[in-house]
Amino acid sequence: MSISVNEKEKFFSVKTANTEYQMKVDEFGVLKHIWYGEITNKNMEYLLDYPNVGFSGSIYEAGTRQTYSLDTLPQEYSCEGTGDYRISSLSVLNKDGDSSVDLRFKGWEVKKGKYSIPGLPASYDNSNEAETLEITLEDKVSKIEVVLKYGVFENTDIITRSAVITNKGDNSVYLKNASSVCLDIPFGNWQWVHFQGRHAMERQLERASLIHGVQESSSNRGASSHQQNPAIVLCSADCTEISGSCIGAMLMYSGSFKARVQLDQIDQVRMVMGINPEMFKWNLKAGESFYTPEAFLSFSSQGFEKLSHCFHKFIRNNVCRGKYKLESRPVLINNWEATYFDFNEEILYNIAKQASELGVDMFVLDDGWFGQRNGETAGLGDWFVNEEKLSGSLKKFVDKVKAMGMKFGLWFEPEMVSEDSDLYRNHPDWAIKIPDRAPVRSRCQLVLDMSRKDVQDYIYEAVSNVLKSADISYVKWDMNRSISDWFSHGLNSENMGEMPHRYVLGVYSLLERLTSSFPDVLFEGCCGGGGRFDAGMLYYCPQIWCSDDTDAYERTKIQYGTSFFYPISAVGSHVSTVPNHQTGRITPIETRAVTAMAGSFGYELDLNTLSSEEKESVKNQIKRFKEYQPLIHNGEYYRLSNPMEDEYAAWEFVSEDKSEALIHGMVFFTKPNFVRYLIKPRGLDENAEYVINNGSETYTGKALMSGGVLVPKTSGDYSPIEMHIAKLLS
Ligand code: DGJ
Repeated sequence: MSISVNEKEKFFSVKTANTEYQMKVDEFGVLKHIWYGEITNKNMEYLLDYPNVGFSGSIYEAGTRQTYSLDTLPQEYSCEGTGDYRISSLSVLNKDGDSSVDLRFKGWEVKKGKYSIPGLPASYDNSNEAETLEITLEDKVSKIEVVLKYGVFENTDIITRSAVITNKGDNSVYLKNASSVCLDIPFGNWQWVHFQGRHAMERQLERASLIHGVQESSSNRGASSHQQNPAIVLCSADCTEISGSCIGAMLMYSGSFKARVQLDQIDQVRMVMGINPEMFKWNLKAGESFYTPEAFLSFSSQGFEKLSHCFHKFIRNNVCRGKYKLESRPVLINNWEATYFDFNEEILYNIAKQASELGVDMFVLDDGWFGQRNGETAGLGDWFVNEEKLSGSLKKFVDKVKAMGMKFGLWFEPEMVSEDSDLYRNHPDWAIKIPDRAPVRSRCQLVLDMSRKDVQDYIYEAVSNVLKSADISYVKWDMNRSISDWFSHGLNSENMGEMPHRYVLGVYSLLERLTSSFPDVLFEGCCGGGGRFDAGMLYYCPQIWCSDDTDAYERTKIQYGTSFFYPISAVGSHVSTVPNHQTGRITPIETRAVTAMAGSFGYELDLNTLSSEEKESVKNQIKRFKEYQPLIHNGEYYRLSNPMEDEYAAWEFVSEDKSEALIHGMVFFTKPNFVRYLIKPRGLDENAEYVINNGSETYTGKALMSGGVLVPKTSGDYSPIEMHIAKLLS
């Protein structure tokens, strides 16, 4: 039993394999947070202190007891208007205009299995391990009821959180903030890690000490964004890859979000995460419920590595879905960086032909195959094949690709519309813009109003018709701008504030319909690279194009940050040409390959332009990737260096039975007479004997892990590292 309840004490303990989460209802009905950390088998309430802090308010029932204040008490779901001046999780504008909501305990229930959330993606249980705890809180005055849901996944040390907010009163209210999770940590010297960036430079790890006040990681762009990712880590100041405490928190949401961390006046930490309240005003009518997106929490007492392993397994097994979730992914060739919009049937055919000869599994036709889409200014929305450009039907071309022994994949950007398109000419009101105002353009395009069912239906039909017209095995679902000008003809002034969330719900609903209508199609998410790289999208698309930056050196940093939460199989990663189109950097083809192999692998260049020696390398890379894919995708991932600080990047995949490991990476710059780098693998069997790269010398796992291996001498910059470590059969 992972959930135990002491009814008399109203004490709740939620245990996973290595962690424990405790809560307790006090004499005033307040649900206090008691503990999140290692399993203690002890009610940790003895650590709760009730300080008398000047100017902190006390709830009325506490009488003259000034030491009882919601401003200092750790709580499970903080509310605005209760004398708790820290960040609130719930904010309700009541019918008379006041914003008070005071939640007290009403009841609890433990349920077998994992809850799901209407209209939203949610993690699921597929091995009968999960349990759900529901704690109901109510505000007796406004009749707002909140059910806090805790999903418990014992094996991966994950606890999920979500809230259902119901208006049990007779009048409409507005939700101004409805967060998914609140976590109070009363003690410790905590830092936080978040993942910031920009287009073509996503998820750059940033770690900082907390300062008094609020720090946040958020997006107000309508998508989870390139700039900040909906996943943060709170860690002890001494936390490393392999030691120290850390808590990972991730929101399963693809729209505007906000994760806030506050160091309060008495050095306590509060973390609140959910839909971005700045973009949110939900009209909750009498009798209606609002469902928050789900958040995932995990605690590790053994540093970041353990935390990442838990999130990787959880996302792969309990978030991603569909035929491909645990399947080998096809090695693909994408024509984008080879041609951009400038192609015809012959050019595509030649790229596909050469790729098939070198062992590539699938040809992906990117942007520019439809309508009058010959550049960035036209065509989006007109999902009809440009038969002139393809010299015939899509089916004819797909059949040619299939005759080469390859599968075929196609790019779409379903949520967008060009002003120069038939769709826009016929339905100008389907584009998001405010009447009488000129809309903000981005990449010369506008966004379709995905909150509208008729818009969703049009896209569903248009995409389905194309998918049915030929044998298409893969869809790249792109989204190339941030959203602004929030206005929908389907909403009114009372509920316009619902639009950003309704947009996301519309995208999810459409993805659900399409992925279930085409269960054999592999969907890859994309948003100008990794601008919507989140667990919400991974529920529908088991892989996401990680970044529009294909430069191997930059990718080591982007993929390093991405690896803290997201599994390797989720990371779309390709070998492209040199000089690299984003940075002008020249890196060896082997380095580009080992870097791209830390993902769902492919190529994005015209392989005809390579020398015969390079073509041989490509053949060999594809062979190696296919051989290593089970290890890379199913194994555990270890970060062996920090490429943001070290002079080399190195990472490792270890099979579950520890019989095999693969170290990949690159030495950034070669220096004359340089000091050799030592890499220490992890995760091996200490007592087993291993060989490296099929060599004759044997090493114990202990020797390798404690002594390390020398990186071979390098020549030239960005030299690749590849060491395959295999256990000797006894
Ligand atoms: C942005 C994507 O990230 C690229 O890979 C490519 O598909 C372009 N869009 C096409 O417009």
